[in-house]
Amino acid sequence: MAVLVINGASHVVDAPGDTKLLWVLREQLRMTGTKYGCGIAMCGACTVHIDGVATRSCQVALEDAVGTRITTIEGLDPKGQHPLQKAWVAEQVPQCGYCQSGQIMQAAALLAERPNPTDEDIDEVMSGNLCRCMAYVRIRKAIKRAAMEA
Ligand code: FES
Ligand code: FES
Repeated sequence: MAVLVINGASHVVDAPGDTKLLWVLREQLRMTGTKYGCGIAMCGACTVHIDGVATRSCQVALEDAVGTRITTIEGLDPKGQHPLQKAWVAEQVPQCGYCQSGQIMQAAALLAERPNPTDEDIDEVMSGNLCRCMAYVRIRKAIKRAAMEA
């Protein structure tokens, strides 16, 4: 048994210690906002925050997540009203939507560190989050909108 602190709440998890956090979230805890894209740290769909740092949950073992503070898209804002979430709606960012929770979690970590990011900042931090629907222009616009309105 392991105890994880996710979105401010403790969860008891019964899974082998080497189970990846992504699968603990999705399969054990049914927090399906965090997506599986590649499983090899190449797409960013599985991005969560661990102790405030954007992290690929497909690469983190359950045993290594114990004792950390995990935030998923479900807990980014209690009402789904984080400035990025509002900006995502205003800019109509998603197409299929599959990559978008990972995009938002990555962007949230960026804004926490750099509240007024430049285009270069955005490119640097977001370049590892892939979007098969090519929503990159809208993603950048939404990050800038959120930065202005935060
Ligand atoms: S599923 Fe983790 S980076 Fe692609
Ligand atoms: S909106 Fe479809 S993969 Fe990004």
